Amino acid sequence: MANEKNGYDLVLYGATSFVGQIICEYLAAYKDEQVTWAMAGRSEQKLIEVKQRVGIDVPHVVVNADDEDGLRAMCEQTKVVLTTVGPYALYGESVVKACVNTGTAYCDLTGEPQWIKRMVDKYQSAAQQSGARLVNCTGFDSIPSDLGVYHLQRLAIEKTGKPATQIKMRVHRIRGGASGGTVASLLNVLKEAKKDPGLRKALVNPYVLCPEGHPYSVRQKNHKSAEYDDELNMWTMPFVMASINERVVHRSNALLGNMYGENFRYDEAMSAKNKSIAKKTTLGLGAFMVAANISPLRILLEKFVLPKPGEGPSKEEQLNGIYDMRFYGTLANGEKIEVKVLGDRDPGYGSTAKMITQAGLCLANDSVDTQGGFWTPASLLNDKLIKRLAEHAGVIVEEVSSQ
Ligand SMILES: NC(=O)c1ccc[n+]([C@@H]2O[C@H](COP(=O)([O-])OP(=O)(O)OC[C@H]3O[C@@H](n4cnc5c(N)ncnc54)[C@H](OP(=O)(O)O)[C@@H]3O)[C@@H](O)[C@H]2O)c1
Repeated sequence: MANEKNGYDLVLYGATSFVGQIICEYLAAYKDEQVTWAMAGRSEQKLIEVKQRVGIDVPHVVVNADDEDGLRAMCEQTKVVLTTVGPYALYGESVVKACVNTGTAYCDLTGEPQWIKRMVDKYQSAAQQSGARLVNCTGFDSIPSDLGVYHLQRLAIEKTGKPATQIKMRVHRIRGGASGGTVASLLNVLKEAKKDPGLRKALVNPYVLCPEGHPYSVRQKNHKSAEYDDELNMWTMPFVMASINERVVHRSNALLGNMYGENFRYDEAMSAKNKSIAKKTTLGLGAFMVAANISPLRILLEKFVLPKPGEGPSKEEQLNGIYDMRFYGTLANGEKIEVKVLGDRDPGYGSTAKMITQAGLCLANDSVDTQGGFWTPASLLNDKLIKRLAEHAGVIVEEVSSQ
């Protein structure tokens, strides 16, 4: 089992990426427990530059994503691989394969449902045999959503013996920016979907990541426009990350043995101060999606507007970033429970760097001894990760008192 391995606790593959460098900074300053770790990437020169910039002296491994033997050797030296090498649909498979073949635990930052499905279909049984525990989506997508729902459902079951039948997640505040890598991943999903009608169909299925034979058929709400929610008394608008987060939450339900129930309804949206903001933001998002789907406009966006690979929000934007997500649960008896997830940095980078690191340390050190295979954060790390995030990562998952 991976936990019994000697060598490093963590190897950070993609240490030179925009988010990888923030993870290096976090690990360099991290004194809460002893961590042995190494950096890995395809360019030795860039790895050395990152070390000099961050002021660290950790070992490094040079390996390209197309070097299967090199990736295998990298995996054999560590309990857990954290990988930021993306878009995952382009460069991620060889790392998954190496971890599966060597029984090494793995965390990633993918938000690409079509790629997760391909990896699960192809490697799940081999991972079960080797004992490799692979946890996808251990960044802003989808840890806050996945753990917020899990925590609310655990409270609901403790209080009434039954899970909430419906949870609505509303983003109340969010401040941060996007990086070139995230933009590249989003554009790649759109490109793949444009070419493949089967994929387009799969992507609109909220249960696309649930294991075959799952019992779910309830129609789920999909926020496409600005709307007024009478129950919550607020304007809402679409939330870009909903399409991955909602699918991860339903996969967690399946992997947790239907803990949330067979008829569980879940949807995500952003709350807006008023109708005008909701309408204008929805229009802007719609225009961006249309432009990103039309080749000449997409090329112009990539060239002149969007951040390039390696670029992202400034240090100041990361430090001043924040998010506040609210989970409104309705119980079978009509009672309500509210849970909040608060993060103290920009969601995609400052906070994501801390979340993936803590997910990796949870796998390395917290006796998460379970069957190998592909897991979600909530289905494998749940309460242990909630505790770690509160203690070491500035992410709070807690009930909102009704007083
Ligand atoms: N889930 C979340 O909340 C979240 C948040 C942030 C980012 N992300 C995802 O994380 C990933 C990284 O984002 P980013 O903005 O940090 O990306 P980025 O700066 O563009 O970095 C991409 C990384 O991939 C490496 N790479 C590319 N091709 C490679 C190959 N053939 N072999 C080995 N390494 C290769 C690059 O190495 P070089 O430096 O040598 O070019 C670089 O380290 C993206 O997929 C993004 O969508 C997710």
